[in-house]
Amino acid sequence: MIARISETYEGAIAGELFGAREIARAIERLAGEIVRDYRRMPLTLVGVLKGALFVTADLARAIAAIPDGPSELSIDYLCVSSYGNASRSSGEVRLLKDATEPIAARNVLIVEDIIDNGLTLEYLRALLGERNPASLRSCVLFDKPFRRLVQVPVEYVGLQVPDEFVVGYGLDYQELFRNLPYLAQLQPEVFTNG
Ligand code: IMP
Ligand code: MG
Repeated sequence: MIARISETYEGAIAGELFGAREIARAIERLAGEIVRDYRRMPLTLVGVLKGALFVTADLARAIAAIPDGPSELSIDYLCVSSYGNASRSSGEVRLLKDATEPIAARNVLIVEDIIDNGLTLEYLRALLGERNPASLRSCVLFDKPFRRLVQVPVEYVGLQVPDEFVVGYGLDYQELFRNLPYLAQLQPEVFTNG
């Protein structure tokens, strides 16, 4: 039923910001930086659901494809939802599902889909930081640097996105559009009819 899904999305999409190839290249570059920094060290990726579902999976495999990387790599996921209006988080984050493995003494890399005001990532760094990981860093695929409310460290940054609401490659509008393989803007009518 893929064809029907695409037709439903078609009229809603205003334009493509980054295609699947550009996204894949950005992830390969991030993987290269991560491999350099975690050479022969154990590493745990903690993906933030639901948005970072695809970037976490693709990043983990891109890291595996590069020689001399981490000595071992484990993947965990946690699930949060941010309160706020439909298109901006308020930083009031609710932990819907925690990671399953202990991270004490582990090298942890948080993998997020996008950072905007920074409050979600700040919450996550505080949450995981309390658990005494050996190291804690963050990786975001998409960066909207225009409306930061907090200066939260992001050691690995993929692609800069304009100050607009975007969907696709894991990012949703009202739970839809996550499975678009590219990053897109929506038609303004989508927000008003929502
Ligand atoms: P922040 O707390 O403002 O940094 O936003 C982080 C979270 O808000 C992300 O994990 C996304 O779930 C969501 N978000 C921010 N910008 C967008 C967007 O343009 N499209 C979809 N979700 C977004
Ligand atoms: Mg989201």
